Amino acid sequence: MKKASRMGSLSSGVFNEMEQRRKNVESRGIKVINLGVGSPDLPPAQHIIEALKKSVENPLNYSYSLGGTSRLYKAVAGWYKKRFNVDLNPDNEILALMGSQDGLAHLAMAYIDPGDVALVPDPGYPIYSFSILMAQGEVYPLSILEKNRFLPDLSSIPEEIARKAKIMWLNYPNNPTAASADREFFERVVEFAVKYDILICHDVAYAELAYDNFKPMSFLEVPGAKDVGVEFYSLSKTYNMAGCRIGFVVGNREVISDLGLIKSNIDYGVFFAVQEAGIAALTGPQDCVAETARTYQRRRDVLVDGFSEIGWLMPKPSASMFVWAPLPPGYSSSTVFVADLLERAGVIVIPGVAFGKQGEGYVRIAMVEDETVLAEAVNRVRDNFKFK
Ligand SMILES: Cc1ncc(COP(=O)(O)O)c(C=O)c1O
Repeated sequence: MKKASRMGSLSSGVFNEMEQRRKNVESRGIKVINLGVGSPDLPPAQHIIEALKKSVENPLNYSYSLGGTSRLYKAVAGWYKKRFNVDLNPDNEILALMGSQDGLAHLAMAYIDPGDVALVPDPGYPIYSFSILMAQGEVYPLSILEKNRFLPDLSSIPEEIARKAKIMWLNYPNNPTAASADREFFERVVEFAVKYDILICHDVAYAELAYDNFKPMSFLEVPGAKDVGVEFYSLSKTYNMAGCRIGFVVGNREVISDLGLIKSNIDYGVFFAVQEAGIAALTGPQDCVAETARTYQRRRDVLVDGFSEIGWLMPKPSASMFVWAPLPPGYSSSTVFVADLLERAGVIVIPGVAFGKQGEGYVRIAMVEDETVLAEAVNRVRDNFKFK
């Protein structure tokens, strides 16, 4: 086949590779503990499932939805106001997505021509750079380093790159580093975006998975943010609805309209029943969200305390469903350590380098198993490695 050159910039991904290795290890009779993919193992609340069920039974709900319903957009606006005190106009500042990934993947189609520059965090969630590469743009990696609290150092971006850049991707609470951003950082981002005329795209997928009473903020809380950017929100993690594809993008109305135009040429909207499930999630009781966060917090403590006790030291994240762990003593390559961990302990984590060059030296552990399984993972590592 005569493939497009962009295919060269895509890989089938570390997850497929890990899946292959998992099968090899399991064929030897070892039950692998998979802390690789960040797919929630918890169920959605019953009222969300009920709303979906009821709506699935209505034959009128099977036409193309052609976008979000006004009921969904009002629910989103109400939720954003209550959670972040951010005002959104349901008529033109919200767009429904088939999962936030849909928007993250397609936005570049509206803004990036071949050769255009986008600022993309390194390490970062892979779709930010893939979306730019698929539009044949150029990725300028923004290193996010521990010494800078995993925030990009905007002052280190060369002037000519800042002038050329059209988009900057940001994501806090962050995947994979689990870091969070503060108001002061977002204020500097808005200032930078105004100065260089850059569209800010903030992904806030993990805002509700936060611990020890921490409440992550929305980028749109900062004055002027809506003039320069948009924010992507996902129901996947907050409400454990990852396979029930729904998310949304909010903020700058020109961007919302442009992405809406692109999408209207690609898909015909989110299934009405899934929209109803989303409305039930956003407007229903929120104790399920607090319960989910408490569950992850307990898991975090089992993992981080357990590994630290056996000499693999790692910080406790204040948000996200991940632990971003520096390599244990004796290792300098994340891929070598990950291979060893699977072979010797039957535990899968993701090598940091899979998220970009600056991810080397770390692994990402997803807290997607219950506490007893995580304790078992710690025991297996204790029995098969000596870090002290
Ligand atoms: C940072 C981040 N953004 C977006 C997504 C995609 O979420 P959705 O299920 O809404 O497409 C993920 C999924 O893991 C993620 O980690």
